[in-house]
Amino acid sequence: MASRGRGAAPFLILLAFLAAQCFHQSTEAKKVTTNLHFFFHDILSGPDPSAVLVARRSGRTGPNGAFGDVSVVDDPLTEGPEADSPVVGYARGIYVSASRQSPILVMGLDYGFTAGPFNGSSFSVFSQNPILDRHREVAVVGGRGKFRMAQGFANLRTYSINATTGDAVVEYSVTLFHYE
Ligand SMILES: *[C@@H]1O[C@H](CO)[C@@H](O)[C@H](O)[C@H]1NC(C)=O
Ligand SMILES: *[C@@H]1O[C@H](CO)[C@@H](O)[C@H](O)[C@H]1NC(C)=O
Repeated sequence: MASRGRGAAPFLILLAFLAAQCFHQSTEAKKVTTNLHFFFHDILSGPDPSAVLVARRSGRTGPNGAFGDVSVVDDPLTEGPEADSPVVGYARGIYVSASRQSPILVMGLDYGFTAGPFNGSSFSVFSQNPILDRHREVAVVGGRGKFRMAQGFANLRTYSINATTGDAVVEYSVTLFHYE
């Protein structure tokens, strides 16, 4: 046993050396800040809606009748607020009406870019969104591609809403901290 213990010493030194190398390499990755600005189009109306209600409870009692609604979305992201503004990506996932009291959505969405320097990359939001507030902040919890390991936040402002159809355009100002 004793001789086996002595034989382990060089091995332990090697391990410590490798661990130091790993630590050294992990500090090399550079953390950067990226700001993004775009418009999110949530289209409920027409023959090709971008947000569809897929589940609703029976009986819509209580202060928020929409409580429990689940929608699946594939919402275009554009440079400007107009419907025909160039598309830069899509926000895909779900939002649920998750407050018994008021119109608060909880969104689980992947914002994937299809143009520009971040084509092929995405960031993910999982957050409450009190949609009637003029300004609200949602949490960015991760990302892919150039946004790997992203953390951050997005400030949302309703740009326009059609009271008849519920179609909405929301302005996004996003701050991401991520590795290059
Ligand atoms: C985005 O990336 C895809 C896949 O690499 C490519 O096919 C497409 O042409 C790119 N789009 C733009 C606008 O750069
Ligand atoms: C709201 O949508 C309806 C139905 O598409 C349309 O007729 C109306 O012009 C829209 N209102 C505004 C303010 O855009």
